[in-house]
Amino acid sequence: MAADDFPPDRTPLHVAIIMDGNGRWATQKGWPRLVGHRRGAERVKHIVEACPDLGVTHLTLYAFSTENWKRSTEEVIGLMTIFSAYIRSEAKRMSAEGVRLRFIGDRTRLDKRLQRLMGWIEARTAENTRLNLTVAINYGGRNELMRATRLLAERAAEGRLDPAQISEDDIAAALDTHDLPDPDLLIRTSGEARVSNYLLWQMAYAEYEFTPTLWPDFTPEDLDNILVKFGARERRFGGVVTA
Ligand code: IPE
Ligand code: IPE
Ligand code: MG
Repeated sequence: MAADDFPPDRTPLHVAIIMDGNGRWATQKGWPRLVGHRRGAERVKHIVEACPDLGVTHLTLYAFSTENWKRSTEEVIGLMTIFSAYIRSEAKRMSAEGVRLRFIGDRTRLDKRLQRLMGWIEARTAENTRLNLTVAINYGGRNELMRATRLLAERAAEGRLDPAQISEDDIAAALDTHDLPDPDLLIRTSGEARVSNYLLWQMAYAEYEFTPTLWPDFTPEDLDNILVKFGARERRFGGVVTA
């Protein structure tokens, strides 16, 4: 979907966040990493609540990458438990606040119960329009592009798609994010200045903002400050701005 497809009074402002630094936040305090992840989930609630008033219509959060399986079993299981608990405990509030929740990533590798819960909350919040919240779980930009390529190749092999006619729109439509506008702004917390396999295709023209704040300390005020800074940036999309 292109940004122009939205009605003028609902100009989409799509913010993508790499919520990083939970582990360091806990370690600095002498606590287990999972305490940081739990605090991180609490932060998500505050940021989600603040977004509509800040003019953010789309929020996409990186919760678990295709590379995060490298972590200890304890941490991986702990994170999956936090995802399930978040969905269960936030379901009512999401409906009350008009939040539509969807997931991107390859969910086939996730626990079946978690998969069912994800499908359930997506269906339950499907009609909500105040904030489009997307959570990336077992998500990797390369994995997403690989799955999209397979899909297009299958269509071509069946004779339903002419390889010479494959367009950028066809690729975008085959991605997990097919019904989302591209992110306008990427925020990464914790001071790391890298994208760690997040939304590689979609972020072609996003503005990047790296903040040293660790995710469990990131507040709606921090987001507001970043949005003000973003508002002052000149986005050229390869063109030339004329006075
Ligand atoms: C981000 O925090 C959350 C996930 C990747 C699941 P980290 O767990 O990466 O925290 P640091 O980077 O180790 O501090
Ligand atoms: C990126 O953070 C993934 C998420 C925030 C879910 P990581 O902590 O996994 O990234 P690297 O390893 O520092 O690049
Ligand atoms: Mg990290």
